[in-house]
Amino acid sequence: MSRLLLGPAADVLRTEIADASADMVYSDPPFGNEKVWTGKAGSFDDRWEWSAASSAGWAALQRHSPAGLALLAAVARTKSARAYLGVMAGIVVELRRVLKLTGTLWLHFDDTMGAELRLLCDAVFGPENAIGTLVWVRTLGGHGNVKGFGRIHDTIACYGRSRAAKWRLWRIGTLDGDPITGEGFGRFDDFAVAAPLGPTDKERVGYPTQKPIALLEELIRAATLPGNVVLDPTCGSGTALVAATRLQRKSIGIDISQDALTAASARLTGPATAQPSFDFGEVA
Ligand SMILES: C[S@@+](CC[C@H](N)C(=O)[O-])C[C@H]1O[C@@H](n2cnc3c(N)ncnc32)[C@H](O)[C@@H]1O
Repeated sequence: MSRLLLGPAADVLRTEIADASADMVYSDPPFGNEKVWTGKAGSFDDRWEWSAASSAGWAALQRHSPAGLALLAAVARTKSARAYLGVMAGIVVELRRVLKLTGTLWLHFDDTMGAELRLLCDAVFGPENAIGTLVWVRTLGGHGNVKGFGRIHDTIACYGRSRAAKWRLWRIGTLDGDPITGEGFGRFDDFAVAAPLGPTDKERVGYPTQKPIALLEELIRAATLPGNVVLDPTCGSGTALVAATRLQRKSIGIDISQDALTAASARLTGPATAQPSFDFGEVA
């Protein structure tokens, strides 16, 4: 069962989503890299100017953690960084509210604003609730450039809503893994094994920066059980919702773009979703 909601994530979360209602949040937001991303199924703007949402986000962070706000404000180097981080702060503060005490946030980013986003999550969730950062190789080489290393990986930071979340991740890993070898679903080191999406891969729907279903299945299996609620506040073409549905989890997707929700809705009613790749018995 999936719900799709249109609008800016911070506002939609505040008005539509109850406290402590999600077991897992995955978010793959714009990375703050000052580009417009376009595909045949939609586009999104990753260029940032100060807006009411930036201002509301910084105010929400100020209420939640004045020390965190001071730290983040000191490292936000440019006007566009301040505008972007304000929007992200508004979203991350709301995400903490909607997570259950046992829930986890999985925030996907690259090096562009990665350090600042980790400081933001530390400020909102507390550094003691940082579980780790996964590396996911999103493309296979050939991206060298004279300004630095070619960027071929993304990072996914994982934070628990409380200390209980670490226990729950461990418990799910134990339930799903082989009790003798310790190997199995839900147990992994800080490296996501899912392969990059190929340029002509069948699951591509033409949404820019679409992520592979296999990556989301890997994370969702690690963090949740069948029947749990997975929320993606910047869902784009709905990859997290498709993966959640295939794994018999409930899902909620939010996006500011109608094109994104149209693409997500088509995928959720299409054959890739209707065919669970994994038959997971209910675990008490
Ligand atoms: C990187 S894309 C997500 C791609 C998605 N993971 C997929 O596999 O298709 C980021 C999405 O965030 C959305 N977005 C940007 N700002 C937003 C906001 N304030 N609230 C909700 N969604 C937002 C964009 O419209 C875009 O669809």
